[in-house]
Amino acid sequence: MSPLVSDLHLYDIANVKGVAADLSHCNTPSQVLDFTGASELANCLKGVNVVVIPAGVPRKPGMTRDDLFNINANIVKTLVEAVADNCPDAFIHIISNPVNSTVPIAAEVLKQKGVYDPKKLFGVTTLDVVRANTFVAQKKNLKLIDVDVPVVGGHAGITILPLLSKTKPSVSFTDEEVHELTVRIQNAGTEVVEAKAGAGSATLSMAYAAARFVESSLPRS
Ligand code: LMR
Repeated sequence: MSPLVSDLHLYDIANVKGVAADLSHCNTPSQVLDFTGASELANCLKGVNVVVIPAGVPRKPGMTRDDLFNINANIVKTLVEAVADNCPDAFIHIISNPVNSTVPIAAEVLKQKGVYDPKKLFGVTTLDVVRANTFVAQKKNLKLIDVDVPVVGGHAGITILPLLSKTKPSVSFTDEEVHELTVRIQNAGTEVVEAKAGAGSATLSMAYAAARFVESSLPRS
């Protein structure tokens, strides 16, 4: 965990005491505090430097991320309004889907509140990089730790653009491999949704990817 991160504030509309107790047993310097319900949201955010928003409903098989818009857009709007009111200088990392839409919503909320800083608002798409690295390493028998595949664009279907030709270490792909890998990377979220068969979408790999991104995006003093 970054040395910049000290306390960890967990917020949920439902009870998060169990999750907080569980996390508080990790031997990191972080103190874990839980906040529950709308009345505790402001206190959760006061003095906070980094906000990560994974809130919202997950997809079920057959759904696209856009199908989550009606519910998740409102959740993100409410949370970002509270961020603007209580910790306007915080870095905000948005995971809630559809990320391609929830990030612009967050930007508009912050603009309306007069606290928008484009350098501090992020849509977390690192899971696409994590997946691209894994699938390319497997396909080409590379040592995973060495592989870096840039992925640009958004976080839904064909807006996820793996730049396979820029893979490090340099590696060549047949047209067939490019097609196969691109389709797998673009549909990897759906692969998990289908494997979970109605019990949600990626959580563990997403938590790993988000931790990686949040840590790398923070300024070092
Ligand atoms: C993912 O890529 O796994 C997440 O965006 C969740 C989803 O619905 O695919």
